[in-house]
Amino acid sequence: MSRISVFGLGYVGTVCSACLAKEGHLVIAVDVNTEKVDIVRGGRSPIIEKDLDRLIADGVESGALTATADSLEAVLKSDLSFICVGSPSNGNGSLDTSYLERVSRDIGTALRGKDRYHVVVIRSTVLPGTVGKTVIPILEQASHKKAGVDFGVAMNPEFMRESDSVYDFYNPPKTVIGALHASDADRIAELFEGVSAPLIKTSIEIAEMVKYVDNAFHALKVVFANEIGNVCDALGIDAHIVMSIFCMDTKLNISPYYLKPGFAFGGSCLPKDVRALTYEAKRLDVDTPVLNAILPSNQHQIAIGLQRITMLQRKKIGILGLSFKAGTDDIRESPLVELTESLIGKGYDVRIYDRSISLARLCGGNKEYVERKIPHIARLMVSRIEEIVDHAEIVVIGNKAPEFDDVADLLKPGQEVVDLVGLAAERNAEEVYVGLSA
Ligand SMILES: NC(=O)c1ccc[n+]([C@@H]2O[C@H](COP(=O)([O-])OP(=O)(O)OC[C@H]3O[C@@H](n4cnc5c(N)ncnc54)[C@H](O)[C@@H]3O)[C@@H](O)[C@H]2O)c1
Repeated sequence: MSRISVFGLGYVGTVCSACLAKEGHLVIAVDVNTEKVDIVRGGRSPIIEKDLDRLIADGVESGALTATADSLEAVLKSDLSFICVGSPSNGNGSLDTSYLERVSRDIGTALRGKDRYHVVVIRSTVLPGTVGKTVIPILEQASHKKAGVDFGVAMNPEFMRESDSVYDFYNPPKTVIGALHASDADRIAELFEGVSAPLIKTSIEIAEMVKYVDNAFHALKVVFANEIGNVCDALGIDAHIVMSIFCMDTKLNISPYYLKPGFAFGGSCLPKDVRALTYEAKRLDVDTPVLNAILPSNQHQIAIGLQRITMLQRKKIGILGLSFKAGTDDIRESPLVELTESLIGKGYDVRIYDRSISLARLCGGNKEYVERKIPHIARLMVSRIEEIVDHAEIVVIGNKAPEFDDVADLLKPGQEVVDLVGLAAERNAEEVYVGLSA
């Protein structure tokens, strides 16, 4: 049994308080709004949510759940504080951290007079760096104590959906805990023992970011489905059948595939098919702003790749991989061809190695395409990785051919690797690689 104070009796804080009390913990719910405090003291829920009234009534009756507006008392009588205050938008869209700042000051002030170790857990959604740059300094200043030494700090984002939030408390998609100390993370994880979900212990910044990635992706899914729905409507096609077939594909569609940060897409299908679909939408007078943004965003990624190379201010470049993905000689709309052409145009001394394309030049169906369409690139191709390493001041990894895995072992002092495809992350070799999304 833990003694927990929960700050903020909104959707997140109320559900958290009621469910943690039901799990046998002693919970003190805190809010500056005394009306909400009185409602909970009366055994009722301050928000409308399935099953919540009953849970709160049970908690208050058993004494497991109490409510107060007194933050000092709440901190002194608990060992962990969950911060669940709002984090709304400012007028310009930036994050309003004022509630968070106030509650951090309240908790910090209370910690000043407390001898026992206390852990502050942020459950509000906050941008990466907010805990480190806003919450911790205020807690330290108000408490005259040191985070990570005298008290613990952790980030534990909430993934519940309103209207199903009690169910989601017990069945979240995952539990993510970012903490200064592993022992604090362990302590928080114990609270979720009754919850069956993957448990991820990580850094505070990653835990902060994960929540924004989730919500941005959920928002993207909704507008994507709506735009597809609008195009289908204009074509007289049943969008629900289309999207349910789309969702049945758990190999390429609803899956981790295509969700690794790295370089631009290319090849013979994605660019031309996105182009055709957005052209068709335009012909039908259907606005598809998200679909329209795909190709410009992809183009931007090529520009970022180019910038990562040129900012190193070296002239001799060796590119490993020319086709848009390993194991194919298809170089139609390969972003690496565009990248290479930009480098050549800027006067860089480029060599390229791609086993599949070298083979195609000897005998494959793409021989003519390579010689006719990109002779200026074909003549820069070499036949061994070692020739790239001998030539280059910067080695660029352009696709995930398995033979590029160990290229770091071939490097001489002073040579750098620009890793466009995230190979370093897979090999845990970030120290010798400049990544595209590092
Ligand atoms: N609502 C959701 O479905 C949901 C889901 C996941 C994450 N979140 C995140 O959780 C956080 C809380 O969201 P919410 O919808 O529960 O907010 P909310 O606005 O419903 O409730 C916030 C509560 O905090 C109280 N509060 C403000 N300052 C306080 C202080 N100093 N001390 C004590 N209480 C204080 C307010 O009076 C209010 O009752 C936000 O960061 C939100 O983005 C919300």
